[in-house]
Amino acid sequence: MSAETSTPTSTALLEVEDLEVHFPIRSGVIFERTIGAVRAVDGVSLSIGAGQTYGLVGESGCGKTTLGRAVLRLEEPTGGSVHLGDTDVTALRSENLRRFRSRMQMVFQDPLGSLNPRHNVEMLLAEPLRVHRINDRAEQRRLAEETLDAVGLPTSVLERYPHEFSGGQRQRLGIARALMLRPDLIVCDEPVSALDVSIQAQVMNLLDELQGEFGLTYMVIAHDLAVVRHLSDRVGVMYLGKIVEEADSEEIYENPRHPYTKALLSAVPQPDPEVEASRERIILKGDLPSPANPPSGCRFRTRCPWAQDICAEETPVWREVAEGHKVACHFDRFD
Ligand SMILES: Nc1ncnc2c1ncn2[C@@H]1O[C@H](COP(=O)(O)OP(=O)(O)OP(=O)(O)O)[C@@H](O)[C@H]1O
Ligand code: SF4
Ligand SMILES: [Mg+2]
Repeated sequence: MSAETSTPTSTALLEVEDLEVHFPIRSGVIFERTIGAVRAVDGVSLSIGAGQTYGLVGESGCGKTTLGRAVLRLEEPTGGSVHLGDTDVTALRSENLRRFRSRMQMVFQDPLGSLNPRHNVEMLLAEPLRVHRINDRAEQRRLAEETLDAVGLPTSVLERYPHEFSGGQRQRLGIARALMLRPDLIVCDEPVSALDVSIQAQVMNLLDELQGEFGLTYMVIAHDLAVVRHLSDRVGVMYLGKIVEEADSEEIYENPRHPYTKALLSAVPQPDPEVEASRERIILKGDLPSPANPPSGCRFRTRCPWAQDICAEETPVWREVAEGHKVACHFDRFD
C-alpha cells in the first residue's frame, strides 16, 4: 500500500459515477470547428469493492479502453466523477494528480511493446519508481527483486532486455512494472488476448495470486466473456459507450438477461460436447453503429433480434431485475 492510502468512506474502493468521455470531431484546416463528438464513454456508473475484480466486456470499439484510461485519468473525462477511496480522482490537479498516480496502474496487452528496447529489465522496473522520486538504487533493486519473485521470474532477468522474453514472460514483466509502486487499483486491459491459451491460464492465475498477496483491486477488460469468468467477482457488459448489464460473475453466465449478453455468451464454445452440440448461436445483424451518432432509444436496437417500436422511442431504464443484477432493456422475456 502507498503512503497516501486514505480511508474509504464505504467498502467500495472505486466509485465511477455517470462518467463520460466525448472526443471532439473537428473540421476545418485553419479555423477548426467542433462539428460533433465521439461518445466513447457515455454515462457509465460502476463500483468495485476493495480487493474485488470487475470484469468489463464488450466488442471492439465499445469504449472499454477509454473507460479504463479515464478511471486512471490517462484520458480526461468530459463528465461524471471517479472516486478512489475518498479521493475525487477527477478533481486532482498537477502535483496532487502526479503523486496519486502511484495508487492506480495499468497493464496492457503488450506491456513492453511501447517501452524503450534498449532499457534492460532493471531500468524498466526502476522507471516508475524514479517518476515517483524513489531514487535510492539499493531500494530500487530491493523492490525489483521482491516484485520479480512475486511474479515468478528469477532475479537474473534484471540484466536482460525485453526482446529476449516470450509473450508470457513479457506479460509477467508488465505486471511487475505495474506492481512496483504497490498500487491499490490495477486496470488490466486485455491482459491475455495476445497469449496462447495455455499461457493465458497461467497469467490469469498469477493475477489471482497477486490480488491476495498485495491486496489489489482489479478492473479486467476483455472482449471475450470466457476470459474474465473465473477472475471476476462482478461483470459489466458494455455496448456503445454504456453498460447494458451487470451482475455477479456466476449469475451473468447462468442467467444472462440482456439480448447483447445472450449473444456474446452464445458465441462462446462449450467444453462439454453435448452442451456444445445444442448451443444456439445468436447472430447479430450489422456492425457496431458509430459512437458519434448512436441510435435513438435503446442503442442496441439496430442489431437486437427482439427489438420492438418502443426500443427506438424510449431509452430503457437501468433497473434491478434480481438482487444485484441490473439490466437496461424494456423486456424480460425473449421467446
Ligand atoms: N483519442 C481518441 N480520439 C477520438 N476517438 C477515439 C479516441 N480514442 C478512442 N476513440 C474512439 O472511441 C471509441 C471507443 O474506443 P476504445 O478504444 O475505448 O474501444 P475498446 O472497447 O477498447 O475497443 P478494442 O476492444 O478494440 O480495444 C472508438 O470508436 C474509438 O475509435
Ligand atoms: S430494449 Fe429493445 S432493442 Fe434494446 S435490448 Fe431490449 S429488446 Fe433489444
Ligand atoms: Mg481497447
